[in-house]
Amino acid sequence: MKRFKIAVIPGDGIGNEVTAEGIKVLDAFAAYKGNIGFDYEFFPWGCEYYLKTGNMMEEDGLKTLEKFDAILLGAVGDPSVPDHISLHGLLIKIRQGFNQSINLRPVKLLPGAPCPLKDKKPEDIDFVVIRENVEGEYSGVGGIRFPDRPEETAIQTSVFTRKNTEKIMDYAFKLAQKRNKFNKVTNVTKSNALNYSMVFWDKIFQEVAGNYEEITTETTHVDAVSMYFIQKPEAYDVLVASNLFGDIITDLGAALQGGLGFAASGNLNIEKEYPSMFEPVHGSAPDIKDKGIANPMAMIWTAKMMLDFLLEDSDTEAIIKAITEVLVEGKTLTPDLKGNAKTSEVGDAVCEKLKSIL
Ligand code: NAI
Ligand code: MG
Repeated sequence: MKRFKIAVIPGDGIGNEVTAEGIKVLDAFAAYKGNIGFDYEFFPWGCEYYLKTGNMMEEDGLKTLEKFDAILLGAVGDPSVPDHISLHGLLIKIRQGFNQSINLRPVKLLPGAPCPLKDKKPEDIDFVVIRENVEGEYSGVGGIRFPDRPEETAIQTSVFTRKNTEKIMDYAFKLAQKRNKFNKVTNVTKSNALNYSMVFWDKIFQEVAGNYEEITTETTHVDAVSMYFIQKPEAYDVLVASNLFGDIITDLGAALQGGLGFAASGNLNIEKEYPSMFEPVHGSAPDIKDKGIANPMAMIWTAKMMLDFLLEDSDTEAIIKAITEVLVEGKTLTPDLKGNAKTSEVGDAVCEKLKSIL
């Protein structure tokens, strides 16, 4: 029996509602397997915690989290706390503090999910974005000079290191090999305008590509990638992008796969020196919080990604199959999918399907 210690940070708003469903599915999976189990510890960190204590998480929170096998996070953010405080005080602190340098974001249209592009089918939308996750434009380096004076000046600097850039490029190439779809990696850049950082980025991409001669490469500016996501999403396999660009194009990717209710992600410390963190791409959705109508599918998919990182077990595909069956059946869907089911009913329906598949 292998037991995994999971730190759960439900966070704010719908984070709480969807996390419960992710756990439900993890437990259903463990019950079927019989030889694995999960010990959860819950942390009440987030905006409410900040309003009480002045911190988004415990001061030595990273130390506390270090001993876990993985972290499952719902979402953080609330209108009562400025977004840059909630983001930097918790999420970015964990991503950077645990050197979770790879942000893995699959974009896959499941049968039954609503694609906003006419004529595009599930086989047309199936790619993965590797987003750089600990430096780049989100390094937090900069400052404000002369605040609140007419001369007020803001400076924010991007940081790109050779070591980290090589690592994420290499991960992208290895993933393309493993997926074996088109054996292709697309480098998302903007080196026409960013003549230091992105020229460097492209150079490292070319260097790493030299180690993978069987993989086809292409380099495309981020604005053009945004256009091609709409015009020809079927052209993509693996994309590698900086922190900011990856953030933006994966929301577009989420739209292609039916909305934020489907977008899952993993923040990976591939060296496994620290725990990795798994979270849906969506935020805390204050507009629908406490209504019990958030779509939990992104969180359930995220829980599946956590399983994939913890175990090598092809049975985890059954979770995607179970979500797909619920979608295709169309009886138990949340309002974002034009249904009237509750979040927990969708979680129950996925567990039911999972039991019959496994
Ligand atoms: P959001 O993702 O929370 O919501 C955008 C829209 O999508 C809303 O209309 C929302 O109702 C809908 N939506 C999102 N997830 C859904 C789900 N599972 N089911 C059904 N509908 C869903 O993004 P927004 O509004 O920009 O940000 C809200 C708060 O969340 C802010 O405080 C922001 O900083 C934070 N945020 C946190 C993230 C995280 O924790 N990783 C990521 C993005 C935003
Ligand atoms: Mg985002």
